[in-house]
Amino acid sequence: MKFFIDTANIEQIKEAQDMGILDGVTTNPSLMAKEGITGHDNIMKHYISICNIVDGDVSAEVIATDYEGMVREGEALADLHGQIVVKLPMIKDGIKACKYFSDKGIKTNMTLVFSPGQALLAAKAGATYVSPFIGRLDDISTDGLNLIAEIRLIYDNYGFETEILAASVRHTMHVIDCAKLGADVMTGPLSSITGLLKHPLTDNGLAKFLEDYNKGN
Ligand code: E4P
Repeated sequence: MKFFIDTANIEQIKEAQDMGILDGVTTNPSLMAKEGITGHDNIMKHYISICNIVDGDVSAEVIATDYEGMVREGEALADLHGQIVVKLPMIKDGIKACKYFSDKGIKTNMTLVFSPGQALLAAKAGATYVSPFIGRLDDISTDGLNLIAEIRLIYDNYGFETEILAASVRHTMHVIDCAKLGADVMTGPLSSITGLLKHPLTDNGLAKFLEDYNKGN
């Protein structure tokens, strides 16, 4: 399972990268705004900074909602850096743009996916990644994890190569459950990754080992 971090925060990206377990980054316009990154040029520069920190794929989202605009923006994003993945919204023009970029060999991430049918369309359009938002489904009393299971079944039935990128992950149990269900990738906040480290028996055991070692010294 690949681990992506879902943030535009440089310090958090560096911290995850330093752990040696980071496979990529996802961003969106809200995450950029949260870090105070506004304006076209600043946003473009920020994508380059992120690419220079991580080794893997960095999803950069288009703002246009029409096909021509998405193609124009997506091409500019892809030209920024070889690690950029063009993130497109799950609407009709987004699917059309996804097919355009797939045919050109440019990586894509279909975002704002909330149903198995949308995921099927993303795969048909040749998306590199499909991003089902599990936390936002949970927020409205709908089982987000069930969507991951449904997409896994559909993709396996037909051998689709689109990777299931479990998005809107909120906590460590989401990560573990997505791993059990066979999601290819997860993206979430740094805490959803570092939280996986925690176990009181590890902390207690280490304290005891150190205590016993020091008895003999
Ligand atoms: C995915 O690419 C999105 O950026 C993200 O996972 C959305 O998560 P949220 O529902 O916590 O905003």
